[in-house]
Amino acid sequence: MSGTSLDGVDGVLADFAQPSLASLASAYRPFAPELRAELMALQRSGADELHRASLAGRALAGCYADVVTDLLREAQIPASSVRAIGCHGQTVRHRPELGYTLQINQPALLAERTGITVVADFRARDVAAGGQGAPLVPAFHAALFGDASEHRVVVNIGGIANVSDLPPGGAVRGWDTGPGNVLLDAWCERQTGARFDAAGAWASRGQVIPALLARLLSDTYFALPPPKSTGRDHFHLDWLTFFLAGGERAQDVQATLLALTATSVADAIRLHCPGAQRVLLCGGGACNAALVQLVRHALAPRVVAGVETMGIAASQVEALAFAWLAKQTLDGKPGNLPAVTGARGARVLGAIYPA
Ligand SMILES: Nc1ncnc2c1ncn2[C@@H]1O[C@H](COP(=O)(O)OP(=O)(O)O)[C@@H](O)[C@H]1O
Ligand SMILES: [Mg+2]
Repeated sequence: MSGTSLDGVDGVLADFAQPSLASLASAYRPFAPELRAELMALQRSGADELHRASLAGRALAGCYADVVTDLLREAQIPASSVRAIGCHGQTVRHRPELGYTLQINQPALLAERTGITVVADFRARDVAAGGQGAPLVPAFHAALFGDASEHRVVVNIGGIANVSDLPPGGAVRGWDTGPGNVLLDAWCERQTGARFDAAGAWASRGQVIPALLARLLSDTYFALPPPKSTGRDHFHLDWLTFFLAGGERAQDVQATLLALTATSVADAIRLHCPGAQRVLLCGGGACNAALVQLVRHALAPRVVAGVETMGIAASQVEALAFAWLAKQTLDGKPGNLPAVTGARGARVLGAIYPA
């Protein structure tokens, strides 16, 4: 899995044959700075982008293959005992309203490099069926974290934040609430050179600017009812600068962006999941102590806890989800939830590149 944060690649080796899902190995490789810069540049239209996207897809497949090699080495198993790789690719455009979402990838090269069957391009079929193509993780969140008596909500704070609402015995819903880390990372990097604000320490030295927070929250995306999904197409540095008056202190803007992520997540849960009892956090944003504290405060008295409390590492949930989605595909089972994405029906997702 490589998500909108453009930080790197998370991999897990999952065993679904166990009575409860077992993660046999995990690996992470950050993107090399040149590849990251190119993936960032490809988020916007630019010169010769078909050629550049093809080369970036090739480099990406190389990263994915390296992560697979790490996993096999850690677990000490041969490629021949792995049924498939579920590979999301790197989103460079997400425009379901125009009928497409685009993840660059070279699954054929990944199959060639690893000798393992690859399942890729999961989102396209849902969009073809009239859906948002996102989020695709709620079905997996439900399978992993759903409970017969407790109303749970899973919040994945990646570049974009998404929630999965899991009422006991009820219908699963899910949607993107808006920015997770994407603006926090972009502002931090521009102002300090650091790729992200570790533990939210820099934001904690600033003061929230209430008028700016109110302007940011006035963006119509936040009030849109689900199903909805978003990406870097909508939330980027120029989006932020449009709302700045100029002259704000940089750390105050960071504090305000932290409040924006926390408020938009908490508001979504209060409004759309009023019965929620336990909120489970995952994704890199769950490592941001200041962000977690704000979310916890905004959602009290509900329990807010990391998914570690359920025995799963926060950084592994999305990668596990795409392993699960690949298994669904190979088993001929649907991966999307029409109530989540707005698709006309359940669909078997993805394209299979046999070993
Ligand atoms: N210790 C930390 N403190 C603050 N933020 C963190 C920390 N670790 C990870 N992050 C955030 O998590 C992001 C990566 O999260 P991830 O779940 O991989 O998102 P995505 O799926 O969009 O790639 C980083 O870009 C960073 O913003
Ligand atoms: Mg990531």
